[in-house]
Amino acid sequence: MKARRAAFLGIMAAVLLICCREESALPAVAPAEISETKYVALTFDDGPRANTTGRLLDGLRERGASATFFLIGRQIAGNEDLVLRMKVEGHQVGNHTWDHVTLQGKPAAVVQKEICRTDNAIRNILGDGSYWVRPPYGLLNKNQRCCFSTPLVHWSVDPEDWKLKNAKKVVDAVLKKVQPGNIILLHDIYATSVDAAFQIVDTLEAEGYEFVTVEELLALYGITPQAGVFYTDAREITE
Ligand code: NI
Repeated sequence: MKARRAAFLGIMAAVLLICCREESALPAVAPAEISETKYVALTFDDGPRANTTGRLLDGLRERGASATFFLIGRQIAGNEDLVLRMKVEGHQVGNHTWDHVTLQGKPAAVVQKEICRTDNAIRNILGDGSYWVRPPYGLLNKNQRCCFSTPLVHWSVDPEDWKLKNAKKVVDAVLKKVQPGNIILLHDIYATSVDAAFQIVDTLEAEGYEFVTVEELLALYGITPQAGVFYTDAREITE
């Protein structure tokens, strides 16, 4: 009885194996579709800001798009719920100093205070983690970079949304330039930039783009991020 049962199971296993093989051989279309996915990272500086950041998070969630937020430390108090939502909803949270001061050329003690105070404020909400840094205006001297314990983030597409304050113009500026692997700079403190972000996501998702965090983008391009190194684009590391 046992032998017959074993033989039966053996035959069934063979049938299953054949079925699996046939199934995996059938859809030749799927791998081609996957390789055509274009990845891009939206980044938002200078938040959180209650109304605009909340609306942005709602819209990104509806669209299944991830983004990266570089927060100003002194704006975190009172907006803890938004910071928590960022992490829970799959976004990357980063550090944009406490007071939005230019760090370039500043004494190490000033840089450390600006970064650590913000890092602590983020940790108090989100717990331990590596909260990457984007210095205000992207400025740092070369000899200052070694002080950082996280990767540093620049951008490769800058529509100057803070200057335009016009959703259509911001959308046009981004769509004219965007390519897979880009890091796009926007600010979530302007309603026009939030509107622009939604149109950018809708348009590019229809063209096969997927919106990922900066950390995910670099990983998808096989890049291992290093502390104190600026990342400008997944296809081009500053230094
Ligand atoms: Ni800024």
